[in-house]
Amino acid sequence: MCREREIFLRVYAKALAGASVQRSSFAKPRVSFLHMVHSGWIFPGPRCPTLRAHFSFGQVMQPRASQFQKWIDVARATCQSSHMLSYQHSYHAGNLADVHKHALLAWVLAYMTAKDKPISYIETHSGRGLYALDAIEAQKTGEAAAGILRAGSAFGPDHPYGRVLAQVRAHHGDMAYPGSPMIAAQLLRAQDSLTLAELHPQEYDALRQVMGGTGATVQRRDGFKLAQAICPPTPRRGVLMIDPSYEVKSDYTDLPDFITSIRRKWNVGVIVLWYPVLNAGLHRQMVAQICADHPDAENYETAFPPVREGHRMTGSGLVVINPPWGMAQEAARIDALIRAL
Ligand SMILES: C[S@@+](CC[C@H](N)C(=O)[O-])C[C@H]1O[C@@H](n2cnc3c(N)ncnc32)[C@H](O)[C@@H]1O
Repeated sequence: MCREREIFLRVYAKALAGASVQRSSFAKPRVSFLHMVHSGWIFPGPRCPTLRAHFSFGQVMQPRASQFQKWIDVARATCQSSHMLSYQHSYHAGNLADVHKHALLAWVLAYMTAKDKPISYIETHSGRGLYALDAIEAQKTGEAAAGILRAGSAFGPDHPYGRVLAQVRAHHGDMAYPGSPMIAAQLLRAQDSLTLAELHPQEYDALRQVMGGTGATVQRRDGFKLAQAICPPTPRRGVLMIDPSYEVKSDYTDLPDFITSIRRKWNVGVIVLWYPVLNAGLHRQMVAQICADHPDAENYETAFPPVREGHRMTGSGLVVINPPWGMAQEAARIDALIRAL
């Protein structure tokens, strides 16, 4: 990768993650915004008319100081509403990563609601809450066919995930599949609180509709900021579920600090972070850092064959801070079940 591009990507990732970016960040060597556009590094595509118009405007080869912050703001806002949010979970719902993540999440919530005391459930990246496995998106990838449609029979009424699947199918049809917010809503009680963030406009609208009547608070907001704002929550016992789509590669580097800052404020919270196990190993450094920062954290992974040729995900992982007692055994059981499919 050329040096200019490397600098651009580093600075741009910082801007996307919300950090303040100075004009001087591009200084050595000087990287102009027009150069970036002309080099195809940030060509925003037809879905970003604002950004395209902005960058094709003017002959200035270097942003003037007075314009620079505005340019960054436009880039950030546009990316938040389109580039960054091009991920849609409908294509992946019910895949083996979901089975791993949702079976363990259901187990955690069943464990925590076994005691009378109320709990808080907060989710930073919620998705739309309910999926149709016979939708075009799901059929296009075939991920659910290789996932819950194969593994479902392993989860009967003796497992909270199996119970939720049965309840959701009874209400919404045999091909309905619950996302994590719906799993939480099914397992929480009247005394518990449920707070959900989702940034994508369509996913947010669908989520709000699906969660109607559950008592959930649903916000179209950056989930990291929401969690920072409400932790420690009331009630204080509870779970923070973090399930990013990792479209922004800086997620891998920012998550350890994010988790540490939440834990400093909320030392009793159960923090669950999902990550994809990738051939490229992008997750390794992040997981190692979190486990080094929090020696009581536990890390559970499972492996499965790539769902199609060229697919980079070969497994699913969770890092859990303050795991409930017995979670390692349950994770080993789910891992064995997935590997035996
Ligand atoms: C992997 S999906 C969530 C799936 C869901 N947790 C489940 O298991 O059913 C990630 C979601 O996060 C949303 N998203 C991406 N960045 C976000 C952010 N900073 N804050 C809130 N939501 C975000 C995406 O639009 C996407 O719907």
